[in-house]
Amino acid sequence: MTKILVTGATGNVGRELIKQLPAADVRLLSRHPAAVPEAMAGDVVAGDVVAGDLGRPESLVPALDGVGVVFLIWPFLTADAAPAVLEQVGGRRVVYLSSSGLSEGHDDPINRMHAELERLVERQAGGWTILRSNTIASNARGWAGQIRSTGVVRGPDIPATAVVHERDLASVAARALRSDELAGQRLVLTGPQVLTRAEQVAALGAALGRELRFEAVPAEDARAQMLADGRPSVLVEALLSNVGRPPSGLITSTIAELTGSPARSLADWAQEHVGEFR
Ligand SMILES: NC(=O)c1ccc[n+]([C@@H]2O[C@H](COP(=O)([O-])OP(=O)(O)OC[C@H]3O[C@@H](n4cnc5c(N)ncnc54)[C@H](OP(=O)(O)O)[C@@H]3O)[C@@H](O)[C@H]2O)c1
Repeated sequence: MTKILVTGATGNVGRELIKQLPAADVRLLSRHPAAVPEAMAGDVVAGDVVAGDLGRPESLVPALDGVGVVFLIWPFLTADAAPAVLEQVGGRRVVYLSSSGLSEGHDDPINRMHAELERLVERQAGGWTILRSNTIASNARGWAGQIRSTGVVRGPDIPATAVVHERDLASVAARALRSDELAGQRLVLTGPQVLTRAEQVAALGAALGRELRFEAVPAEDARAQMLADGRPSVLVEALLSNVGRPPSGLITSTIAELTGSPARSLADWAQEHVGEFR
């Protein structure tokens, strides 16, 4: 029996994914294995945990021993370490978590990085599935402080997107990992509705039973604020490059087709996570 190596196992998507895979088959990668039980936020750690750092490709050698397929996330802002990581991965099958921005014509540094990862995975892995995800619902956690303190979320008015629940991403990933039936496919995964920032904030407010408001901040002010908050400039510029673009309106039915259930909404996510915003 070969193992499934899950990178980003302690992250939003990874935590959902390991719940949907047989524990005996799963190996969780983390830079801080001793801290994994705490990072799982109350979830049981299913599977064995190994140390490894995607930024130090040689550190992946023990983690990859006995592994047949890898769930790969890329937590960096450049693809610099990716060729060496794919070299370590070798002929194993890879399921890569990419961005739907590539299907929406977004040409910013983050989407260019995902494009480079896709190229490397498709060229080098021994079989691949690409999951192009839209905005992940758990990004809303970044608003928790403002929601708790003022009820007003301030930020750049980036275009509306079809926010996708990380559990749905995990369900598709689990299917792609457990067999090669989705090999060679690029799947674009979205939620069920295209939502503006104001609508996203309102959905959180409805779940909380509070009136919340989104206040658009001019790009220049947003840039200054995000840089002052310590966000990397490449990330800030990637985000701001989308301000003023018309929304792509992209919605796909892929999640419903592959899971047999409608894609979950941001309202569903908000109901599950109200405690984090109180
Ligand atoms: N947010 C979005 O809207 C969006 C949209 C499309 C695609 N994506 C992609 O989805 C990926 C996963 O998102 P997420 O929200 O699940 O992530 P997350 O919650 O931010 O978690 C980050 C994960 O990356 C791991 N990690 C960070 N640096 C690492 C390193 N140097 N080596 C190995 N592991 C490292 C962390 O593990 P440890 O701390 O345990 O090492 C953690 O499990 C993102 O990286 C992004 O590329 C995101």
